[in-house]
Amino acid sequence: MARLFDFFSRSLGIDLGTVNTRIYLKGRGIVINQPTLVAVNTRTSQVIAQGFPAKKMLGKAPSYVSVFKPLENGIIVDFEVAEKMLRSSIEKIQSSLFSLFRPEVIISVPLDITEVEKKSFEDIALRAGARKVYLVERPIAAAIGMRLPVSESVGNLIAEIGGGLTEIAVIALNGIVAWKSLKIGGEIWNKNIIQYVREKSNLLLGEQTVEEIKIKIGSVYPEKQNQEMKVKGRDIITGLPKEISLSESDVREAILPSVNLIVDAISETIEKTPPELVADVLERGIILSGGASQLKGLANLINKKIKIPVHLADDPSTSCVRGLGLILEDFENLKEVLLPLTRE
Ligand SMILES: Nc1ncnc2c1ncn2[C@@H]1O[C@H](COP(=O)(O)OP(=O)(O)OP(=O)(O)O)[C@@H](O)[C@H]1O
Ligand SMILES: [Mg+2]
Repeated sequence: MARLFDFFSRSLGIDLGTVNTRIYLKGRGIVINQPTLVAVNTRTSQVIAQGFPAKKMLGKAPSYVSVFKPLENGIIVDFEVAEKMLRSSIEKIQSSLFSLFRPEVIISVPLDITEVEKKSFEDIALRAGARKVYLVERPIAAAIGMRLPVSESVGNLIAEIGGGLTEIAVIALNGIVAWKSLKIGGEIWNKNIIQYVREKSNLLLGEQTVEEIKIKIGSVYPEKQNQEMKVKGRDIITGLPKEISLSESDVREAILPSVNLIVDAISETIEKTPPELVADVLERGIILSGGASQLKGLANLINKKIKIPVHLADDPSTSCVRGLGLILEDFENLKEVLLPLTRE
């Protein structure tokens, strides 16, 4: 009976990110990969859209529609919206199976969260329809997703750089040996670019425009040619639309101070690591993961400053959710990495 229940209920791995939410369905793979945004009808409190359709409404919605972003720097700040979002995702996945059976879920959580914050992840998942909730620290999930040997006695240094959080961890024997967490990631670089252009050119840029700028000409290591890009925004003095040309070196000047904080944090984490494991790190290199680790020149910059080889994960945005998936698929062997449940 238990086995039958297991078969129908299907477990889920949930990476609730500041910018993107990804869900893995056991036996199937990644079934949801979308922005962590929810559009709510404020008259009826009903969810109208989530993910990409909600993103399209950003800045364009009528007054009775609000687009919410329920996480900040990896932490749930809007419980009601986060729960609604999870519930409708779970219902969507379950509807193609059997909605009667409540799923078991594993959620990845930041390293430095309090017991109360930990409980908030469990609570919203239970209220959203989960039967049982397990938690795992995000860098460990990402390391498993990259198929690093986390259970062995070798040190693996991983820097998971997401939208709202950077987590640096040395992992060995299924646990974290040294770590550092920063409320810095892709989102802050967008803010840096907005502020830079505002100060230099009195131009106000929109969120979508800066994201495009960052991906197209964002780089932290000088390349041979200094690419340029035309960008449109609103002149803050005249209030009228204006176009300027922005170069790769402008963007670098804007974001480099925040990026350097990540490089410093990697050095500090190495300083806190026991010598035997430092030797492993020297040999194996620093492994970058998370969507924002794709920033051009980042690996080069870290390598130049820390003088240790740097490797970028394949498909870095999904390392964490793929790790959750691997834990689900091989639960008996990998359950050692799970955090103790707060309610047991
Ligand atoms: N090619 C790229 N260059 C630079 N930044 C990128 C690139 N692709 C994605 N990003 C950035 O990566 C960030 C999203 O990464 P990711 O999906 O890992 O974040 P998240 O998991 O939602 O956030 P977090 O883990 O911090 O809670 C966004 O800020 C996005 O702008
Ligand atoms: Mg993430």
